[in-house]
Amino acid sequence: MAFNANLLLVTAFLCLLSVHHGSACFPAIFSFGDSLQDTGNFINTFANTTISKLPWGITYFHKATGRYSDGRLIIDFIAQALGLPLVPPYRGGGRGRNFSRGANFAFGGATAQDLNTLAGLGLNVTGIMNMPLQVQIDWFQDLLKSVPSLADRTFLGNSLFIMGEIGGNDFNAALSQDKPIENIKDAFVPGVVRTISSGITTLIALGAKNFIVPGNLPIGCVPAWLSKYKRSGPGYYDANGCIIWLNDFSQYYASKLQDELNKLKRDHREANIYYADYYGAGMRLFSDPKQFGELLNLP
Ligand SMILES: *[C@@H]1O[C@H](CO)[C@@H](O)[C@H](O)[C@H]1NC(C)=O
Ligand SMILES: *[C@@H]1O[C@H](CO)[C@@H](O)[C@H](O)[C@H]1NC(C)=O
Ligand SMILES: *[C@@H]1O[C@H](CO)[C@@H](O)[C@H](O)[C@H]1NC(C)=O
Repeated sequence: MAFNANLLLVTAFLCLLSVHHGSACFPAIFSFGDSLQDTGNFINTFANTTISKLPWGITYFHKATGRYSDGRLIIDFIAQALGLPLVPPYRGGGRGRNFSRGANFAFGGATAQDLNTLAGLGLNVTGIMNMPLQVQIDWFQDLLKSVPSLADRTFLGNSLFIMGEIGGNDFNAALSQDKPIENIKDAFVPGVVRTISSGITTLIALGAKNFIVPGNLPIGCVPAWLSKYKRSGPGYYDANGCIIWLNDFSQYYASKLQDELNKLKRDHREANIYYADYYGAGMRLFSDPKQFGELLNLP
């Protein structure tokens, strides 16, 4: 309930920013990101993947749709709250696909930075998905070229752009390859922030004005890291059982991203750029899961 109330507040607020188009506040949503935001690009590109069958999609769509979820993603709730259709994935679906109400370029596994950059930071990039943010923005520009009506600056200026979450997989790759957290802070965070900023700047130049830019979730609560970085001893876990130094890292990244967004706002006063606090939202879920419909009876 709390989540829905918040969502209504957020969308009411967003609507105030935008010219009204009939029932919808925004004529369209365009989105970039990774698996937190992918509504089908990965599954339409790679047939028969682990997410191609139930239980993926089981609670809402009753079939696997390519979402990395049993139900809807945040972007689905936003689209529904704004009275727009669920944002269709750009990839697949054949010719004649109509993106006049928006398109989603987010791709499961995507990093913010490209693979050359990640290799330059010392990563083995063999297993990393090669669909970085720049590729997604290139697809968007391809779309504008092939459907000139979408390139209209007023249309893009009234549309909502959701830029992320993206960059979490840059950090995931670094952590899974045992990069020290100081190295991730010093070398990976600036690169992710710069890449997101440059993506937003490109979109602003095309006429985009309304942005939601999510930070990362509290990664100290992620099962893969709870398992890999399991330790005993006092002061290692917080009251929710999450790893403190990893959550500190998430907050460090969030502050650097917000600094950059504030700079972008100063440089582009015509743009509305809103940071979305996934860290805080995630911590509310982890602190009080029963409040949010937790079904499992964990010991
Ligand atoms: C999909 O993959 C699974 C497991 O790898 C395999 O058992 C199944 O036959 C595949 N299905 C198709 C249609 O290729
Ligand atoms: C796409 O759908 C809209 C209505 O939502 C319509 O006005 C437009 O002509 C369609 N575009 C194409 C290329 O079919
Ligand atoms: C890089 O990773 C791949 C698997 O993702 C592995 O097969 C390969 O041996 C690794 N290369 C190096 C140099 O470690």
